[in-house]
Amino acid sequence: MGQPVDWWRHAAIYQVYPRSFADGDGDGVGDLAGVRARLPYLAALGVDAIWFTPWYPSDGADGGYDVADYRSIDPVLGTLAEAEALIRDAGALGLRTIVDIVPNHIAASHPWFAEALAAGPGSSARDRFFFRPGRGVGGQDPPNGWQSAFGGPAWRRVTEQDGSPGEWYLHLFAPEQVDLNWRNPQVRTEFEDVLRFWLRRGVSGIRIDSATMIIKDPDLPEVPERPGPGNHPYVDQDEVHDVYRQWRTVVDEESGGTAALVGEVWLADLDRLTAYLRPDELHTAFNFDLMAQPWHADALHASITRTLEAHRRVGAPATWVLSNHDVTRTVTRFGRADTAFDPAGRRPGVPTDLALGCRRAAAAALLVAALPGSLYVYQGDELGLPEVEDIDAEQRRDPIFAQTDGTDPGRDGCRVPLPWTASGTSHGFGPDDGAAPWLPQPAGWGTFAVDAQTGHPASMLTLYRTMLSLRRALPELAGQDLRWVHGDGRSPLADPASGLLAFTRGDRFVCLVNLGPDPVPLPGAEVLLVSGPLTARSHLPSDTAAWVRLA
Ligand code: GLC
Repeated sequence: MGQPVDWWRHAAIYQVYPRSFADGDGDGVGDLAGVRARLPYLAALGVDAIWFTPWYPSDGADGGYDVADYRSIDPVLGTLAEAEALIRDAGALGLRTIVDIVPNHIAASHPWFAEALAAGPGSSARDRFFFRPGRGVGGQDPPNGWQSAFGGPAWRRVTEQDGSPGEWYLHLFAPEQVDLNWRNPQVRTEFEDVLRFWLRRGVSGIRIDSATMIIKDPDLPEVPERPGPGNHPYVDQDEVHDVYRQWRTVVDEESGGTAALVGEVWLADLDRLTAYLRPDELHTAFNFDLMAQPWHADALHASITRTLEAHRRVGAPATWVLSNHDVTRTVTRFGRADTAFDPAGRRPGVPTDLALGCRRAAAAALLVAALPGSLYVYQGDELGLPEVEDIDAEQRRDPIFAQTDGTDPGRDGCRVPLPWTASGTSHGFGPDDGAAPWLPQPAGWGTFAVDAQTGHPASMLTLYRTMLSLRRALPELAGQDLRWVHGDGRSPLADPASGLLAFTRGDRFVCLVNLGPDPVPLPGAEVLLVSGPLTARSHLPSDTAAWVRLA
């Protein structure tokens, strides 16, 4: 593909949520045919790789993260042959493929779970999971107080073959997502084989879902009130690293050292996070620290600095993520008084200034695209899509909504099918005579459509296209260096305390982001790209970013 083996150090990676990207067969659900037809769009956007959220057969209990068969494709999305063709077609356009592997849990409809139910307590089939007797009279209470990430207890009781109430099994997410026991050797060999299966089909990367949660403290103790690093009974247990060291040998062997492992590692402690990126473990991990920051120069400066330092210590590149399929859309988040993403609350109905959010999202895109490391773009962010908040209860699909009795709206609002054309019954998501999209598109969705934004100089899509092509073309952006520029009384560049973030890459490239209230003068330079219009005096306004090249 003409790129170096360590392509993952600098790649721009586009996240496809297949059910919402493009519907090729008109059944209302996005599919692989839809993606294949739109590959030229992704190639022209200027990304280097596509990460597909799970495309395997599943019961749809958690948008595909309940996998029933890791070596096949959900018939709603297509066939294995189509996936192979998609990987090939993408490769021919210079786009690498990253698949999503879910090792923490399998679908309740996976044959292993049926075997475990049939085999009964104490069986080797149950040892692949966490089956435990209940507590209290007749075992009526769950084995411990662990809570599901989606709300409610993390245990469900089964009925044994003789019809009696039986053991409980662990599910840290939905009850249809059954946690696997990673101390069982069959679990380990099974997943190594799954990795080989996809690497042999030409994928260049593996995204590891819920990567830190796979090993549980064997005593299943209660979660301490304030667990210290490494002290949580099912998050970031030290033994997890052994698994990924083994995965690394499999991936290196199978790909000749060209494929990358990307961990979903939600850890507040950056040193605990980068421990996963030691040279014999994962290549990269999502960095959510920046996403958790408010739109404030000090906070962003501090987050970027500590992220780069922690990654430098292990020799791994950072990754930059503004959003994904689990969080509030960027333009909505940045249009609110509280601009930090907080996984604990999705805050529906909070006053939102979308025009402001849009300006900030554009500036944030220029900020992260200029940082050293790899970059993630979640589908629709290049269109400036807002979070859709007015989805009816009956139409919501995310298990978070049901498991919290509707107190948390869940993640459907960032998963609404993409608008490709301003006109059309589904705005080009599917054919005009096809079924309605599986999640409704709100009124006005067509204004965000790809065709409406194409060729429009001030659109978000035009900005992304220009930004990604410059990011690829500018040699300064390929390295790992970054130097903050501080105010010295002579330089027009100020320090973060004044609300201006500015850094150089190489000798002459400067990225400036104005998070302060007042316009700031630009240094004497060639302006390469701006996220919004400059003032009449060519100053950089508030909530605007610029890429410049010093004279
Ligand atoms: C990850 C996924 C999320 C999913 C969860 C359980 O956090 O990104 O969408 O619900 O894992 O698999």
